[in-house]
Amino acid sequence: MKDIQNIVILTGAGISAESGVATFRGPDGLWEGHRVEDVATPEAFQRNPALVQNFYDERRTKLKTVQPNAAHQALAKLDRTWVGDLLLVTQNVDDLHDRAGSKRLLHMHGELNSAWCLACDARSRFDGVMAAGPVCPHCHQSGGLRPDIVWFGEMPYQMERIELALARCDLFVSIGTSGAVYPAAGFVQTARYHGARTLEMNLDPSEGSFHFHESRMGKAGELVPDWVEQILSHGLC
Ligand code: APR
Repeated sequence: MKDIQNIVILTGAGISAESGVATFRGPDGLWEGHRVEDVATPEAFQRNPALVQNFYDERRTKLKTVQPNAAHQALAKLDRTWVGDLLLVTQNVDDLHDRAGSKRLLHMHGELNSAWCLACDARSRFDGVMAAGPVCPHCHQSGGLRPDIVWFGEMPYQMERIELALARCDLFVSIGTSGAVYPAAGFVQTARYHGARTLEMNLDPSEGSFHFHESRMGKAGELVPDWVEQILSHGLC
């Protein structure tokens, strides 16, 4: 047990599962129905832009039908209340942390509701259908927008800021991620090298489960609110 001032939290698809957003791996996972190479690489987009646009358009449309759950709400409460440093790094491209009210939040794998214009390089908020070839609000060209999603082979966003926060944190918490995709899967080791306590909350042990000081197995919607109450009342983990 140690005093906690600075917290870094990593979330993955598992935190949105109870809201009805599909995870990636596992029997009903998104990658069961699609080959990653067909929809989540820059090469796939060059080869068959319509297929890739449809895949993300469907997910963006689905986003309008789901709501943040108790785990997103609890992390937003922690963000509002915690006086120390806090950084919530999500691998999720949904907007459920944003809608729950988290502010100290970073989307390392991009966002469904963001468009990246390949003609002028600008990013803009986007909640429509990209396959229709909409116009970029910055350069007014049509057909140049791609989903602002970090695909396999591309560099996740804001790695420098994340690495700094990991080096400074006293507590690293991983929620609802299989630990199958780097660099996020390596965050637990970086935090440990720098002396942080490490905790995972997941339905099943993640691939890097043995790296954590403590693992709590169960649903994020139950585990996360309990943990937030615990840390807010005791400041301890
Ligand atoms: N509560 C907690 N954990 C859950 C729940 C739940 N209700 N439901 C599922 N999980 C766990 C699963 O047991 C699994 O370990 O969430 C994890 C989800 O793992 P993945 O589907 O692999 O999702 P994630 O780890 O976020 O994937 C990482 O891979 O392809 C990509 O870019 C994509 O950001 C994504 C990255």
